[in-house]
Amino acid sequence: MNEARHANAQVYGSDHLTEYVETTPHLSHPAVTELMLKQMRRALSLCPAAPVRVLDLGAGEGSVTRHWLALRVEVTAVEQSPAMMAELRAKCAEHGDRLRCATMEVEAYLSECREQFDIVSCIAFLHHVPDYAGLLELALQRLRKTGVIVTFADPLRYRSVPRGHRLFQQFAYAAWRLWRPDVLGGIGRRIRRLRGVYLPGSAFDNAEYHVTRGGVDQDALVALLANKGLNVEIVRYWSSQSEFFQRTGSKLGLMSEFGLLAHAGDAG
Ligand SMILES: C[S@@+](CC[C@H](N)C(=O)[O-])C[C@H]1O[C@@H](n2cnc3c(N)ncnc32)[C@H](O)[C@@H]1O
Repeated sequence: MNEARHANAQVYGSDHLTEYVETTPHLSHPAVTELMLKQMRRALSLCPAAPVRVLDLGAGEGSVTRHWLALRVEVTAVEQSPAMMAELRAKCAEHGDRLRCATMEVEAYLSECREQFDIVSCIAFLHHVPDYAGLLELALQRLRKTGVIVTFADPLRYRSVPRGHRLFQQFAYAAWRLWRPDVLGGIGRRIRRLRGVYLPGSAFDNAEYHVTRGGVDQDALVALLANKGLNVEIVRYWSSQSEFFQRTGSKLGLMSEFGLLAHAGDAG
């Protein structure tokens, strides 16, 4: 198991579930949730016929999976954490007849799986994977010709974000983080990472792998998908943990995260 997978296995344990939903912008801020739902509905509208089969990678505790199921699709949820998967099953119980669960690492699932899906969903997931481009290539092999890839809630490549947006994001994060536990530890880790020092065994450094590094290279992903002959749509938006900074950043038109929609159909 590599350091990122090991860190994710450590971090997404049972003590994280309530905190996860409360501190995750695409689950806790209605405007961000609505944007994600818009992407999901658009993906669905691009699928030619029901029943639509969704492969939900890094499915987590079920909030996003439940949104998919509410759209009346069939979902295969892949998640490495047994605790997250147990919560997912409970949250999605009313749609159990359209849900299949695989409690395992996505990389292992994709190399074993021989099925085809209409939609591959990577919500708040790619930034956990060191080689996210390689993972997307594997996922594409599981996609029908008419299929759609949906990604959401990954940090834009930091170097590509206008400086003012990035500074405001850092300020918003610091202001929010001050009221969270282990402030001094957080500051120490931040300083260490600014010096380029990452610890292989640290879950703090390696779970949110590309958040603690340079963000996710959205342009490289767009190019990868376009080279496969897919039409790629990108949405850039603002995301912040605190409600105040979420509203302020959105009003100012700032950007920090992105989502992709890639499909073989007509451009949107
Ligand atoms: C930020 S959460 C996102 C969950 C959900 N998609 C959402 O948007 O709320 C990332 C999830 O990916 C899982 N994860 C991370 N790396 C994984 C891997 N290599 N294989 C399977 N699951 C993984 C974590 O356990 C965690 O539940």
